[in-house]
Amino acid sequence: MAVPQLKDKWVLVTGAGSGIGRATAMAFARLGAKLVIADNNPEALDEVGLAIARLRLECLAFQVDVADEAAMLRFAHAVHVRIGAIDVLINNAGIGYHGPFLYSPLKSWRRVLDINVMGVVHGCHVFGQRMVDAGGARQIVNVASLAGIAPTPNTSAYAASKHAVMGLSDVLSMELANSKVGVTAVCPGIINTPITTAAGAISSAISVAQTDKLRAYYERTGASADVVAQAIVDAVRSGRSLVLVGPCAKPMYHLKRLSRALARAVTISDARKNGYL
Ligand SMILES: NC(=O)c1ccc[n+]([C@@H]2O[C@H](COP(=O)([O-])OP(=O)(O)OC[C@H]3O[C@@H](n4cnc5c(N)ncnc54)[C@H](O)[C@@H]3O)[C@@H](O)[C@H]2O)c1
Repeated sequence: MAVPQLKDKWVLVTGAGSGIGRATAMAFARLGAKLVIADNNPEALDEVGLAIARLRLECLAFQVDVADEAAMLRFAHAVHVRIGAIDVLINNAGIGYHGPFLYSPLKSWRRVLDINVMGVVHGCHVFGQRMVDAGGARQIVNVASLAGIAPTPNTSAYAASKHAVMGLSDVLSMELANSKVGVTAVCPGIINTPITTAAGAISSAISVAQTDKLRAYYERTGASADVVAQAIVDAVRSGRSLVLVGPCAKPMYHLKRLSRALARAVTISDARKNGYL
């Protein structure tokens, strides 16, 4: 549900140490929100915590692996004891995986699903009930991807994970329709963050030349993470249920609705040019 006034609201961001999560935490902080930031990278978390502290705002930082159910339960317990129900929950932590399906080890699939799907499931599960019970307008924001609507080749595990986040978000938003908690699914297109350079993000079946081409495409075409952060802030303030942001997101969403065959042809052609295929 729309949360128009963000000053002094508690906003929780997972994966806040880098990219979209960092930019989103900073965008809410600049509007006077109080932050709970979480990441599994302690150095990155410290750096963002310091940046928020410089704005003289309250910020609690937790090193957490969102894929770890027990760690997420401990995290939620600590948050609820200190501050009670969260006003805005942003399940952002996620990883990329680029590789052909037939050459993608199942352990890479499990890692992607554990973080990208179960990380979001854990976030909604451990914080959602308290948000509903507390009453008052609150919002859950799940960062999916354009890959959750119109995926590219060589992203099977990632696309499957983001389709799952879209499905979860749709169902949760209907189940919470009688509460004051709204649900937003965010589908960024190409955003220039370190996601493609993270360890394990690219299969060994992808050549160095193709990897370089893909990274160059992200650097050349990708929008800044700040653009996504602003779109998330706007969606929370207005209670919007779907955010399409960044290059390709809106055109591909509409093209896919118009013609799956045309969307497929355009995607394959673009993927060859940009290093996806
Ligand atoms: N960059 C893009 O083009 C793009 C496009 C669509 C969607 N997304 C999604 O946006 C989200 C953020 O991605 P980004 O591009 O900012 O990537 P990023 O790599 O810059 O940031 C991801 C952050 O999540 C953290 N993280 C990773 N695994 C974690 C775990 N198990 N537990 C806790 N924290 C963990 C990382 O340490 C990092 O700080 C992801 O869900 C991603 O799938 C990104």
